[in-house]
Amino acid sequence: MSESNQLEIPGVVTLTTGEGGLRKAVIRSPRSSAEIYLHGAHVAAFQRHGEEPLLFMSGSSAFAPDKPIRGGIPIIFPWFGGREGMPAHGFARTAEWELGETTVRVDGTVCLRFALPDGGGFEVGYTVTVGESLGLELSVRNTGDEDADFESCLHTYFLVSGIDGISITGLSDTGYFDKVREVEALETSPYIRIEGEVDRVYSDTAAVVEIEDPGFGRLIRIEKTGSNSTVVWNPWIAKSRSMADFGDEEYLRMVCVESGNVARNKITLAAGERSVMKVEVGSRPLA
Ligand code: BG6
Repeated sequence: MSESNQLEIPGVVTLTTGEGGLRKAVIRSPRSSAEIYLHGAHVAAFQRHGEEPLLFMSGSSAFAPDKPIRGGIPIIFPWFGGREGMPAHGFARTAEWELGETTVRVDGTVCLRFALPDGGGFEVGYTVTVGESLGLELSVRNTGDEDADFESCLHTYFLVSGIDGISITGLSDTGYFDKVREVEALETSPYIRIEGEVDRVYSDTAAVVEIEDPGFGRLIRIEKTGSNSTVVWNPWIAKSRSMADFGDEEYLRMVCVESGNVARNKITLAAGERSVMKVEVGSRPLA
């Protein structure tokens, strides 16, 4: 029996060729469907039956072995942002991950386990559960014999009905670094509205964040453990135009709310130590 046959589950998990000839898993659960590329272990789609897609995917995204996918959930690891002479946001999002196991729980939730073949001194596992909600679990173990640091971020792109209609709650009274203005600031507003380029790294927060989207009549809820940073990003007009893999108008239909451990929340692991970040993304109709 081939590798793909052992991992495929009839009517539930299918392995197939996606955009750009890249391999992907197509998943169907009783409540939702999803697509995950092995390139980057990249969740490219998640949709609850009868609801709008939860994740935004750019119509201009590259799908190539050496390029990240623009949209869905890129895994940022082991560094966040730029690094001299190295790929921005680390190497995990452009690596080919191994799909090790696929299972179905009694309630129909589908579970896929991925491993990063070369984690640069770390053993990295990623588990995605596709059911009523979308579950993401990133596990990192230091395989070396000295302390080692890393940053990680699940760079989630959410699809919204219109950027001017949404509000984001859960980050008030939280300090952040404003990457656009290059200043430290404190979030004073009870909710965030996106009215220009936003690129903020909120620190020391494990709070639940919600995105209220009256246009789609839904509330997106992002719950996490093992993550102390939340990044909020929308490139707005000029930056959108400067990105080759992003449509000029696409900033109107997306917002990134990213869960991770970056900058001063980077993680230091002792030899052999493991850390786990869990994120659950759910949605429900707005009352
Ligand atoms: C965000 C960063 O997480 O990712 C932004 O805070 C960055 O500064 C954005 O522009 C997109 O990064 P990239 O490498 O995917 O273009």
